[in-house]
Amino acid sequence: MDATCVYKPIAGERPLWDFPDGTLAFREVAAFAVSEACGWDLVPPTVLRDGPFGLGMVQLWIDVDESVDIVALSRSDHPDLRRMAVFDAVVNNADRKGGHLLPREDGHVHGVDHGVCFSVEDKLRTLLWQWRGRRLSDDAVATLTELAADLAKGRPLHRELAGLLARSEVNATVRRVSRLLATGRYPEPSEDWPAIPWPPY
Ligand SMILES: Nc1ncnc2c1ncn2[C@@H]1O[C@H](COP(=O)(O)OP(=O)(O)O)[C@@H](O)[C@H]1O
Ligand SMILES: [Mg+2]
Repeated sequence: MDATCVYKPIAGERPLWDFPDGTLAFREVAAFAVSEACGWDLVPPTVLRDGPFGLGMVQLWIDVDESVDIVALSRSDHPDLRRMAVFDAVVNNADRKGGHLLPREDGHVHGVDHGVCFSVEDKLRTLLWQWRGRRLSDDAVATLTELAADLAKGRPLHRELAGLLARSEVNATVRRVSRLLATGRYPEPSEDWPAIPWPPY
């Protein structure tokens, strides 16, 4: 079967001060693995693949509903965005801006561009703060509980992440899930890190 895809070759990655060079494609695939484990279908299918410019991440292209107002969507209480806020806290997403929300015509919302996730340091930077400090839903708690089990050493998800991220980054992911379960609440914006992406959209 043919499918239209996004291809981001590792060789084309721009160096960033706060992430090791040549690792963004792996972070994108790791984000898909976590999204799949959550069962929320947030990240479009994403794989590592060789292409004309070498190894890179390849992601299924999503046809977006162009009539959706992204600013309004990003401020809404859409259930997919609630889940995305939890997902972003787990993967430590440093760049959840408006352009990274892809609303489909059937109303489902995907998230893309997860190259700057999984830092060991807290770098959550997002537009989706509307639930900050609020209690997580039972659904989110159940999902995080399963995710914690899936992240145990020896489990397939742990093994997959260990092949894509540094060991310290996998461990930090485990700790973020534990922290979310311990507080039972959406995270609050940090005071020592810009909590909103610039530009936001
Ligand atoms: N899987 C996808 N399906 C459809 N559009 C996408 C997909 N991934 C990215 N895009 C579009 O391309 C833009 C740039 O992609 P992004 O992943 O943010 O790349 P970059 O790493 O260059 O910021 C996104 O804001 C979005 O509009
Ligand atoms: Mg982007």
